[in-house]
Amino acid sequence: MHTELGSQIKKVLVIGLGQLGLPVAKYVKERGFETFGYDINTLKMEEAENNYGIKRIERFDDIDVFILCVSTHDPNDEYTPFVDGLFSLAQKISREAKNGSLVSIESTIPKGTSKKIFELLNHRLHVAHAPHRWYALEEDEHGVNQVRVIGGVSDCCLKIALQFYDSGNESLDSNDNITNDSHESCRRNSLEIPMHPVSEIEIAELTKIIENADRYMQIAFSEDLYLYCQANNVNFGELRDALNTKWNVNILEPRDGVGGHCLPKDTKMFLQSSKSIKSKILMAALEVDEDYRRFREMRGYRLVPSAINSHK
Ligand SMILES: NC(=O)c1ccc[n+]([C@@H]2O[C@H](COP(=O)([O-])OP(=O)(O)OC[C@H]3O[C@@H](n4cnc5c(N)ncnc54)[C@H](O)[C@@H]3O)[C@@H](O)[C@H]2O)c1
Repeated sequence: MHTELGSQIKKVLVIGLGQLGLPVAKYVKERGFETFGYDINTLKMEEAENNYGIKRIERFDDIDVFILCVSTHDPNDEYTPFVDGLFSLAQKISREAKNGSLVSIESTIPKGTSKKIFELLNHRLHVAHAPHRWYALEEDEHGVNQVRVIGGVSDCCLKIALQFYDSGNESLDSNDNITNDSHESCRRNSLEIPMHPVSEIEIAELTKIIENADRYMQIAFSEDLYLYCQANNVNFGELRDALNTKWNVNILEPRDGVGGHCLPKDTKMFLQSSKSIKSKILMAALEVDEDYRRFREMRGYRLVPSAINSHK
């Protein structure tokens, strides 16, 4: 496969125009690319088309870059990982896309998924994974263009993807495969998002799910402390304030428990990523969250909608 695509990228298709995909499509369009959208939900497609000028497309023949932002949870259980939708999309791309285009997976996925998608594409397209850190409640600060990790199935996949996302990245060797002229035109053809490249695509897959597992654990520890305080007649708020006066301590508020569906789903993705060894501390964190929720329920607390309580 060639690595000259970077300077020639014109048409970008964002697949999945939900909470994450719509801001991504808007950002790509603002950067000057001809931006298309595709979503199985016609309302989402209409919203993107009518309100933001994202062009509707049904066939994928002429696309240079595919950005996949579809959901990765079971439609019947939002806490359970599910990538079948992503795989059926890969089959459609495989049937219709031209050789050498870039497929960038921005959805959160289990370890090993990117290489399976590369197989489904019959090795004809470049595959990269650039997981998101986008946060709905602080879009200005933690939106589409914050620093992100990126990996490629092979070196040329990573190189093409870096040219698209971050043409100024130091890992791009200007003497390798692209001329200075095409380097300049790459810069104009870039999303200019600061990227942190990694050598194996599995590292990129793991960073996203471990980031969220880490957050899960921090919340679970605050739930654990809260339950301890309840059982031992200690004022949790006062204890937390006192603890957090130390420079390297940051005890969170337990609020309504681990909120949103992403933290539980992604923590499960991480736990399922190893057959031989499972993180004991995370298994315990899942149990603590259940205990905490049961405690809240017994006390008659109402559950707050998950997005409000998503703890980032
Ligand atoms: N929303 C966030 O804050 C956030 C942050 C980081 C990562 N993520 C990850 O991004 C991915 C998308 O999350 P989201 O919150 O935007 O989900 P969402 O449910 O809001 O949107 C997903 C969209 O994908 C569409 N879709 C599903 N299957 C499809 C298919 N086969 N073809 C075309 N369209 C399809 C759905 O109709 C929906 O509009 C998930 O993997 C999630 O874990 C989300």
